[in-house]
Amino acid sequence: SGKFFVGGNWKCNGTKDSITKLVSDLNSAKLETDVDVVVSPPFVYLDQVTASLTGRIEVSGQNSWIGKGGAFTGEISVEQLKDIGCKWVILGHSERRHIIGEDDQFIGKKAAYALNEGLGVIACIGELLEEREAGKTFDVCFQQLKAFADVVPSWDNIVIAYEPVWAIGTGKVATPQQAQEVHVAVRDWLKKNLSEEVASKTRIIYGGSVNGSNCAELAKQEDIDGFLVGGASLKGPEFATIVNSVT
Ligand code: 13P
Repeated sequence: SGKFFVGGNWKCNGTKDSITKLVSDLNSAKLETDVDVVVSPPFVYLDQVTASLTGRIEVSGQNSWIGKGGAFTGEISVEQLKDIGCKWVILGHSERRHIIGEDDQFIGKKAAYALNEGLGVIACIGELLEEREAGKTFDVCFQQLKAFADVVPSWDNIVIAYEPVWAIGTGKVATPQQAQEVHVAVRDWLKKNLSEEVASKTRIIYGGSVNGSNCAELAKQEDIDGFLVGGASLKGPEFATIVNSVT
């Protein structure tokens, strides 16, 4: 449902030189036209990337502040992201939840503010390994989803990224069946708690050890509407393969 969406989350990686090379590889890659493609560089390289991308790839922040800018040392505001040409922001990423300690409420505030200011939100959810093993995968995902749903003004500009924490950066990709099962459950939740329309139009993308070799099988799943890619998005040709896995 919806146009295939592939995001590259570069996380805290890269240098001016490596990013110059990556952007040049992306500029020369042949990308299927029927896919929304977004890359998310570290803040300090956003300007370099937006200025040097020549095609239709959009750019995303990896985080944003909960409100207007001001005396918030170390933070980046939604207005600043928009000023520099960003169309998106990634919020609720597991690394920010579990390493930095952001909670549902804080993430919800950021999402509501960003959406109200016209920035698209890539809203991340996903369970820890111990939660999966305890049979709590759906509970955890639904709770994280509800925290977004409780505060966002509309679902027009949100992409949901299901990223099981045990699959992130581990090389242990979810099987297509495991991912599809959660994506269906998420879509059902949207239908029951929001509306049929939100459920059918909202893109639910998968993240966690997606690479050039496993993307095709995942992309075939009916409820996988794209990917959020970490490590493999740092290599232009492999990222292009993942973009082009659209079915
Ligand atoms: P990896 O693709 O490196 O597992 O990272 C996934 C991710 O966290 C994307 O946001």
